[in-house]
Amino acid sequence: MITYLESVRQFQLNTAHTTYAFAVADEGYLTHAYWGARLEPQDLTDLLRLKESPFVPSTNNRERASFLDSAPFEYPCGFTGDYREHAFGIETTGGFRACDLRYADFRIFSGKQDPQGMPHTFGEGSETLMITMKDAATGITVLLYYTIFRDSDAIIRRTAVRNDGEKPVLLNRVLSASVDLDDDRFEMLTLYGSWARERQICRLPLRHGKQRIDSLRGESSHQYSPFFALVSPQTTEETGIAYGFTLIYSGNFMLQAELTQHCQTRAQIGIQPEDFVWELLPGAYFDSPEAVLVCTKDGIGGMSRCFHQLFYRHLIRSTWRDKNRPVLINNWEATYFQFDLAKLQAIAQESAKLGIELFVLDDGWFGHRDSDSCSLGDWVPDQRKLPGGLKPLTDTVTGLGMKFGLWFEPEMISPDSDLFRAHPDYAIQIPGRSRTESRAQYVLDYCREDVREAVWEQIKAILESVPVSYIKWDMNRQITEPGSAILPPHRQKELWHRYMLGVYALLERLVTEYPDILIESCSGGGARFDPGMLYYSPQIWASDNTDAQERLRIQYGASLFMPPSAIGAHVSVCPNHATGRNTPFETRANVAMNGTFGYELDVTQLSEQEKAQIPEQIQRYHSISHLLREGGLYRLGNPFAPAECAAQTHAGWDAWMYVSESKEEALLTFVQITAEANLRSRRIPLAGLDETAVYHYNIDHTDYRKTGAYLMQCGVLIPNLHGDMQSLQIRLETETDADS
Ligand code: GLA
Repeated sequence: MITYLESVRQFQLNTAHTTYAFAVADEGYLTHAYWGARLEPQDLTDLLRLKESPFVPSTNNRERASFLDSAPFEYPCGFTGDYREHAFGIETTGGFRACDLRYADFRIFSGKQDPQGMPHTFGEGSETLMITMKDAATGITVLLYYTIFRDSDAIIRRTAVRNDGEKPVLLNRVLSASVDLDDDRFEMLTLYGSWARERQICRLPLRHGKQRIDSLRGESSHQYSPFFALVSPQTTEETGIAYGFTLIYSGNFMLQAELTQHCQTRAQIGIQPEDFVWELLPGAYFDSPEAVLVCTKDGIGGMSRCFHQLFYRHLIRSTWRDKNRPVLINNWEATYFQFDLAKLQAIAQESAKLGIELFVLDDGWFGHRDSDSCSLGDWVPDQRKLPGGLKPLTDTVTGLGMKFGLWFEPEMISPDSDLFRAHPDYAIQIPGRSRTESRAQYVLDYCREDVREAVWEQIKAILESVPVSYIKWDMNRQITEPGSAILPPHRQKELWHRYMLGVYALLERLVTEYPDILIESCSGGGARFDPGMLYYSPQIWASDNTDAQERLRIQYGASLFMPPSAIGAHVSVCPNHATGRNTPFETRANVAMNGTFGYELDVTQLSEQEKAQIPEQIQRYHSISHLLREGGLYRLGNPFAPAECAAQTHAGWDAWMYVSESKEEALLTFVQITAEANLRSRRIPLAGLDETAVYHYNIDHTDYRKTGAYLMQCGVLIPNLHGDMQSLQIRLETETDADS
């Protein structure tokens, strides 16, 4: 519910468990009052501390600068006295950068207004507050949107800018949200990483100054995820305050926490302001992406569940959202570029026998692509590897009762391609400067409609010629030499955002024209593992690292803000191609079942013993995948805990649970990362269950019946397993009347 308390000019957004409040202060400054556990609507003026020195500008304009530099602002702008990081920045035709946004009016309405051309939340039960602010000197109008959904504690914020003046204005910063939190005892939780080592966790105390994570790579990146949390030092997985922030966007971003002189914390999120300038002509609009803000007292796990639930209910738009995804086999780690029709047919035939449902042909099927050095942009089947094109293969695959999936990298162009030879200007580049190659390829200029059209026509021709049920949409390099042949000099810095709008436009076309194709997005593994892509693709390849042990960390980090049902995870062969490590086949499957399950190996080379496990794994995955989509995730272990001594209670193992909304069903997965001799069993308290319900389950061939209260307080006893990376998957179900 959104309330306006007119007598004190305050807005309060109340979700089921939280309140977010801000006020219109003297002279129209918009000041932040409170964000935390739910309060009934009431006067929160005291919290603004506006009567304290430095003085209110209306009573002492001489001290306006000190006021502006210390009051808590809802959407701060620069160069008028607030020297903290601002959220909104402009430059006028005269070259002046100051801006002074003051409150004009508000509107509360049911439903929401979406940012144009960008992924966004949607669905039933939303209510929106729109605040209008104006800068009198330039005629710039800023609209601040706050949306809440009836079934979520998250707040969706975004900013829209309209030029109501008579001259163009350059926008050089339009963050989606800024929040001044009245506290300095925070730790900042971020996800960092690299290729094949994505989403590692960093938790460090805030210090005075600015702590930022960002991307200037043209993608959300392997290096930092567009997510952070501010938690108190006491916050644990299931208790304590956690503020979570993420952005529904896949390009350059920045998230920053600034600890200020008065020991408050300014948290900000939005499009990366560095190298961003957008010319806004009179009458034109600019939309920021949506930011998702979560506050909970239920610890880091509570924050994650809030993100998961919001994204599942209000962001994943695919027709596949509620369906069990087909268990796939992908040929990348099986063959890389070296395959022919017979090899693929053999994999498909063996897979079908084992019950695998979708055959995905990865990179290397087009142009003359025998390695990564050519052919991107030429989406025409390679007749040498696939005589007669894709049809003989798709005939085999569909004849076996499987669906067919295909890999594309639609945003790329190889220097050795017909497309590049015909249109060298299609690549992003700066005239007179050599183009940096990465994986021997360039990035297509998706700001251009003709470029998108050239790619779309080729993709469409394939989709019209063979039955494609699944597309892997890859993006394997970052942008360098940002330059577009179609943008005038003063608009070159629009490239980064225009590129993303172009990518979204093509994805929009794909999901509109082919709504039933299941899309899995990917970016050199997990460089675009973000809520923006989730809007188009309900699953995202999380990492090129398929090693089960490393995946525990990657998937744990990913689950901090992204729903497990979106985490692309496959069983691959051992020794693992990325790490050389051997892990049991069963554990590889149990870990991959913490995501969208599939296989990525040459199934014809598996032992009979391994093959024998596959039909049961597929059947098991289908029987649990509703829990991954709709259930709540409870992380019980921590794969980042040091493993020097497995006898320590928390070291050397990982475990997680899914609990259905009704709490009648749960799934526990336990992985013993490091074995150690002569250990007693581990006692692991469960979470999220119904205290009074009686659950039955089986561990190590013994049946148990215990109450939820017992399981959460006393836990289950997991035997010391023999060997590293051993695992168990345990189903818990409440007793039905028939059972008792
Ligand atoms: C990226 C993907 C892989 C595979 C290769 C193909 O690295 O993450 O899964 O598709 O590209 O070149």
